[in-house]
Amino acid sequence: MHELDHYIYPHRVLHWLVAGVVLLSLLTGLTLGFLGYEGTVNLVGNTLTNFLYTSHKTLGVALLLLMTLRIITRLAFLIPDHDPPLNRFERVASTSVHHLLYLALIVMPLLGWAATASGGFPVEFFHWHLPGLIGEHKALSEELFMWHERLGWAIVALLALHVTGALYHWQIKRDNVMKRMSLFD
Ligand code: HEM
Ligand code: HEM
Repeated sequence: MHELDHYIYPHRVLHWLVAGVVLLSLLTGLTLGFLGYEGTVNLVGNTLTNFLYTSHKTLGVALLLLMTLRIITRLAFLIPDHDPPLNRFERVASTSVHHLLYLALIVMPLLGWAATASGGFPVEFFHWHLPGLIGEHKALSEELFMWHERLGWAIVALLALHVTGALYHWQIKRDNVMKRMSLFD
């Protein structure tokens, strides 16, 4: 047993940063996916469309960096105990959703990167162009974008479960789960 009642501070900061970046990535990605390039240009013009694409790719690449740091802070430091302990269902459900989120949030930016590069488009991070790493291959790009979209919806579903679980622990069960991740208490 140890006295820790929060994850270490950097891990908590990373959790909330990742949460913000994921929501913005989903918002910009779904907007672009729903409207398509032409549709977005017709609605908001060229400049804003390019800005949306660049922002979406920048957010996605930033997420890859944040998730890498996060995996380090997760593995390298002690984890607080649950008080009271979780029951078996809560333990299995929360661990599964957490692991799937970690996996999805690493695979998603890699898919976006590969889909973009194989489509012959620049992989942008702010004003830099990162190496594409794979050659142009239009059919592959379409396939990868399809998986990028499917995984996007899977992330939306995982987040719905995750946030429902967090709210249940916080407002109904009133245990220490929210406190473990909280920045303020
Ligand atoms: C929107 C993107 C979000 C993502 C990707 C995300 C992801 C995760 C992951 C992977 C964990 C596992 C803990 C770890 O080992 O790092 C976690 C923990 C946690 N999250 Fe989130 N989360 C998000 C949003 C939220 C929101 C909106 C809330 C609150 C309403 C929340 C509340 C919590 C809490 C309380 C924990 C601690 C669970 C525990 O003690 O094991 N998360 N989150
Ligand atoms: C975890 C990070 C990311 C999330 C959550 C995310 C999410 C999404 C979603 C939900 C869509 C809409 C798919 C559709 O409806 O067709 C999308 C589209 C797109 N994403 Fe991402 N994405 C991420 C990372 C990236 C990265 C790193 C890149 C490139 C470097 C990228 C490039 C694109 C492009 C170009 C589109 C538009 C595809 C189209 O025109 O249909 N994404 N993204």
